[in-house]
Amino acid sequence: MKKILVTRRLLRSCEDKAEMSFNAILNSNDELYSQKKIIELSNGCDGILSSLTDKLDSDTINKLPETIKIISNFAVGFGNIDLDAAKKRDIIVTNTPDVLTDATAEIGVLLILGACRRASEGIESARQGGWKWSADYLIGRQLTGTKLGILGMGRIGQKIAKVAKSLGMIIHYHNRSQLSDEKEDGAIYHKNLKDFLKECQVLSICCPASKETIDMINKETIEYLPKGAIVTNVARGDIVDDNALIDALNRRKVYAVGLDVYKNEPNLNPGYLNHKSAFILPHLGSATKETRTAMANLAIDNIDEFFKTGNCVNKVN
Ligand code: GLV
Repeated sequence: MKKILVTRRLLRSCEDKAEMSFNAILNSNDELYSQKKIIELSNGCDGILSSLTDKLDSDTINKLPETIKIISNFAVGFGNIDLDAAKKRDIIVTNTPDVLTDATAEIGVLLILGACRRASEGIESARQGGWKWSADYLIGRQLTGTKLGILGMGRIGQKIAKVAKSLGMIIHYHNRSQLSDEKEDGAIYHKNLKDFLKECQVLSICCPASKETIDMINKETIEYLPKGAIVTNVARGDIVDDNALIDALNRRKVYAVGLDVYKNEPNLNPGYLNHKSAFILPHLGSATKETRTAMANLAIDNIDEFFKTGNCVNKVN
């Protein structure tokens, strides 16, 4: 039986599955392992079932035992793993696409709604009680008729577009390539980032973090947005230069932000914390029982498939 290290706790039924399929070293206290501890614990293991909280950089990967042949990431994103370093060591890296599309898109829509309709301020007022209703009290932005720009029209972006369209939003998108008519479903494609951002009354960041997208939303590109735009991010914090976004919020270039992901999670830039126009969530994208179960099962199946066939459809390196 192959031996695997599971770096974080999984839902019980998934840990049972892992134990049935492998000699699995589980993390029953859900301790956040240091890189050193991951290296130590993976001694004698054939694979690692990692999570997005594990920073598997080249230094860590180079120190993994020779026996490690697969890193199965319990996430669709894999910015936490140095893919090239893994490839050089002949370690395959896999992810969990598709199964989290709906749940993550739900949070993407929540970010749009929360930021546009001033949910942070509303929650705060309701908790304090005694608010004074008036005709202009906490007036927000209505979604109907508003242009939504999707940065990265993959599975999650397409699902957000579909829901937003049903709410009357007009969809624009920027992507490496234009989608088929069917997938585009009436959305307007912009090949050029600047032309795209100019249209975004609301921006929804849905693209993966990669060398090309890191800090794509920065001091310069924020200026392309219309004044009073709303910026939401359901993808990865690395895509945004936080200082530039917070500065744009402070000078009202950006009206509000809706964020689920951050650079250096969970230590987000303090500039967001008390900003009344920041609707912020703690990386809840895939956090439903159905989705977390499906993700963990897929991460386990990826390892199983690899050891049975020498390959895996969800290989990303
Ligand atoms: C969640 O953020 C994921 O990448 O799965």
